[in-house]
Amino acid sequence: MSLTRRVFLGGGAGALAQAQSVAPSDRITVGMIAVGSRSHELLEAIKKVPGTEIVGVCDAYAGRVERAIERTGSRAKDYGSYERILSDPSIDAVTIGTPDHWHKQMVLEALHAGKDVYCEKPLTFSIDEGLEIAAAAEKTGKILQVGSQTISSESARTLRDWVQSGKLGQVTMIRAAYNRNSPGGSWIYPIPPDASTKTVNWEAFLGPAPKRDFDLERFFRWRCYKEYSGGIATDLFVHLCTTIHFVMGVTMPAEVLAMGDLYRWTQSREVPDTLNALLRYREGFTVNLSSTFNSRADGGYLFEVLGTEGAAQMAGRELIFHPESGYDNNAWIVSAWPSRLEAEFYRTPKGRSELRRPAPPKEEVYSDSGPASTVAHFQDFFSSVRDRKAPIEDAWVGHHAASCAHLVNLSAESGAIMRWDFENHRQA
Ligand SMILES: NC(=O)c1ccc[n+]([C@@H]2O[C@H](COP(=O)([O-])OP(=O)(O)OC[C@H]3O[C@@H](n4cnc5c(N)ncnc54)[C@H](O)[C@@H]3O)[C@@H](O)[C@H]2O)c1
Repeated sequence: MSLTRRVFLGGGAGALAQAQSVAPSDRITVGMIAVGSRSHELLEAIKKVPGTEIVGVCDAYAGRVERAIERTGSRAKDYGSYERILSDPSIDAVTIGTPDHWHKQMVLEALHAGKDVYCEKPLTFSIDEGLEIAAAAEKTGKILQVGSQTISSESARTLRDWVQSGKLGQVTMIRAAYNRNSPGGSWIYPIPPDASTKTVNWEAFLGPAPKRDFDLERFFRWRCYKEYSGGIATDLFVHLCTTIHFVMGVTMPAEVLAMGDLYRWTQSREVPDTLNALLRYREGFTVNLSSTFNSRADGGYLFEVLGTEGAAQMAGRELIFHPESGYDNNAWIVSAWPSRLEAEFYRTPKGRSELRRPAPPKEEVYSDSGPASTVAHFQDFFSSVRDRKAPIEDAWVGHHAASCAHLVNLSAESGAIMRWDFENHRQA
């Protein structure tokens, strides 16, 4: 993108509304802030979006920079630090794939440096951070996409259409879960054998977190520690909430109640390995979220929307509709009546209808043939960057989904029901 256009696009308040489209021939240059495990997936997804080029990367562990540069065919440069990426005017957009405690600061600095931003979920580390970020996105007019990618998939769109068109009938409950049963699934990742004070920049990792001595477990398994992560809620439930809000067309639950504990992976861990949460929405439905790291190693993902006419389940790239038969069977009730009353019941239209058990309704399967959700999410982001239109998962969407996760943790820690203040977009 040319410098003139970039300066114009970054022109302060309201720039999003006034900015012109970028000509399709113009290449969008991308700097990747942190190239950890997730960012390598982001890198591969960005490579699939035409008209984009990853020109720079940085990371606090040298091995990840080496691998990322290799993945770009040596076209990207090592910038050494995120500040250097932000101060390079030739970079249009950045991805932020650091641990969660860094997100707010980096997003704010990137927006104020005139970059469009793709930030991994959860957008925030605490509820109030979301308001600051939303204000900064509005003020700078830059694009901010949050990286909970499922809502860009065709399956999620189809599920939303099913719900909104009434195919499922009245939806009163959603059940969703992530279960695992292995060290890796529980975030106890292997540590690269060359990790040392020479290859790991400990101070860069800590950033706004409390000062601590060099610790490779904290660096590579940061999700297990409260100073960098909100555990299951912010890592996993946040995805479920983003999808639920998208599918149901809602913003936030009115009330949240959660219980969780650390039962098994007690070594080098502070966050629970088992968590249950209940969310009640004003729109007339409840949500049941759960996660255990102690069972169901395989097939531990559940996402089910339960309606009076049928239930829909997301399963990998498939969406399965289980219609309800509506069949009512009171045989066990009337068989405890006097025999003559039972016989009379089966002579009534209601009783006769119960004698005709319908064949079980056939499931309907929708197979998602669209791009992988992360690729689709970047297509949405880059088209927003070009056309200066709001992306699918802006600061508010990210703020709300992350806030659900924070309310879950606040409830699990206090034992109290947490409530949302819809007027001020924060905890009541
Ligand atoms: N959308 C998804 O499906 C998905 C999946 C996994 C992770 N994530 C999110 O992605 C983010 C990263 O997770 P991950 O699994 O890649 O973790 P990771 O530990 O593999 O990567 C984090 C990287 O950040 C680097 N880093 C830390 N501080 C830095 C700094 N100041 N400057 C530059 N680099 C710095 C670390 O060196 C590390 O390489 C998290 O927010 C996580 O929630 C999203």
